Amino acid sequence: VKSDALVFYGATGDLAYKKIFPALHLMVKRGNLNSPIIGVARGDYDLEKLRARAKESVQKYGQYDEESFAKFYSLLGFVGGDYTDTQTFIRIREALGNAKNPTHYLAIPPVLFPKIVEQLELSGCAKGARVIVEKPFGTDFESASALNKVLLSKFSESAIYRIDHYLGKRPVNNIVFFRFVNSLLEPVWNKNHIESMEITMAEDFGIQSRGAFYDVTGAIRDVIQNHLFQILCNLTMEPPKALDSESIRDEKVKVLKAIAPLKAQDVVKGQYKGYLGEKAVQPNSKTETFAAMRLHIDSPRWEGVPFYIRAGKYLPVTCTEILVKFKHLPSAYSSIASQPNHIRFRISPDVTVAFGMLIMAQGEDMSSVLSEIQGNPTPFPNEKDAYERVLTDAMAGDPTHFARQDYVEEAWKIVDDYLKSDYPVFEYEPGNWGPDQVNELIVPTGGWNNPEVNKK
Ligand code: BG6
Repeated sequence: VKSDALVFYGATGDLAYKKIFPALHLMVKRGNLNSPIIGVARGDYDLEKLRARAKESVQKYGQYDEESFAKFYSLLGFVGGDYTDTQTFIRIREALGNAKNPTHYLAIPPVLFPKIVEQLELSGCAKGARVIVEKPFGTDFESASALNKVLLSKFSESAIYRIDHYLGKRPVNNIVFFRFVNSLLEPVWNKNHIESMEITMAEDFGIQSRGAFYDVTGAIRDVIQNHLFQILCNLTMEPPKALDSESIRDEKVKVLKAIAPLKAQDVVKGQYKGYLGEKAVQPNSKTETFAAMRLHIDSPRWEGVPFYIRAGKYLPVTCTEILVKFKHLPSAYSSIASQPNHIRFRISPDVTVAFGMLIMAQGEDMSSVLSEIQGNPTPFPNEKDAYERVLTDAMAGDPTHFARQDYVEEAWKIVDDYLKSDYPVFEYEPGNWGPDQVNELIVPTGGWNNPEVNKK
């Protein structure tokens, strides 16, 4: 069912300012949100201040236009109060009026979940409701399953929407689409033909002002365990038997279950020089701002194929890209084949799907040159951004692009043991592709694919 009210907790926070208000405004503009939107926050705030902040946010980060903002403005409500106080929730229940299927969006730190969930139930706000929860969903397997227990004590799994905004990116979902709509891929999409896959998520900036969060998180928890594992699942899952949310999510979980816990020799961690001087970072912190890893999927399709995943801050470019490398087949031509065939998915900043293949080089001799055929989806000016897409889905009641309980727990199981041990972190110069050690310890055949991006 479609939800008929949205309550969002953490309305004065950074995420609300940068992502949520702009997304909600566009939902209103497109007619996808036409119900009360109630911001909840602690401290000294009121509706006028919230509206002013929403306006500033949409003007700065969104696509402000007067008419739709006026509509958004009129839908916006505010309830102030402490998250542990029963009165706050009584006021929220009142503000909900006759809404029967409200959505509670917890854009707040997970330590607050137990209290809030309890209060939602006591006040009657949980009735007919669903919840959206932000990442990070726990910091390890234990905390994630504890959070799941808390949520599942008052909500059914089908009413819980765990955000991973990478699932709101069309090019990420296109990976599955592309694999299964193009009939020439499936016969070669396996260990017999694929040599390896690489997933790179590079950012050319540091931790910005998020030291307090980042220092207890690190690259593996921040983006690999969630965003990049989701990409890995899209690249490797078996075809779902139907297109409903559960058939698709079942297949993703199967991939994670077939991945063994990370071992020390399969990971290299790095920290950029200067990180220790960042605000709110411990002076002797060993938090990784870069990680590269090698994984295997223990399934008939993928046995023996290495998957390389790499993410980091202060790398040479900002780009998320996947490279699927194919094997050379033995033939009289193999000595001429200078490079392997590939398929390249660029997720951002631009979107590309490309086939890399060898053709005869110019001149009279028999040599080959790599050439790409690119499919560049025409930029769509009104494209939803990832946040707008996931929030629209949650309000409409479609959980396909959200992480299910078993998914988040399985994803933690892969990284948990590794994260609990104290492995070395190597320093790297900002602007390099991580520490030198990565090039000795974890190198895909033919070297890393370092995406090139035209910098503005
Ligand atoms: C967030 C991480 O989940 O994703 C950030 O916390 C990261 O550290 C961000 O920068 C990247 O998202 P996007 O959509 O800009 O690729």
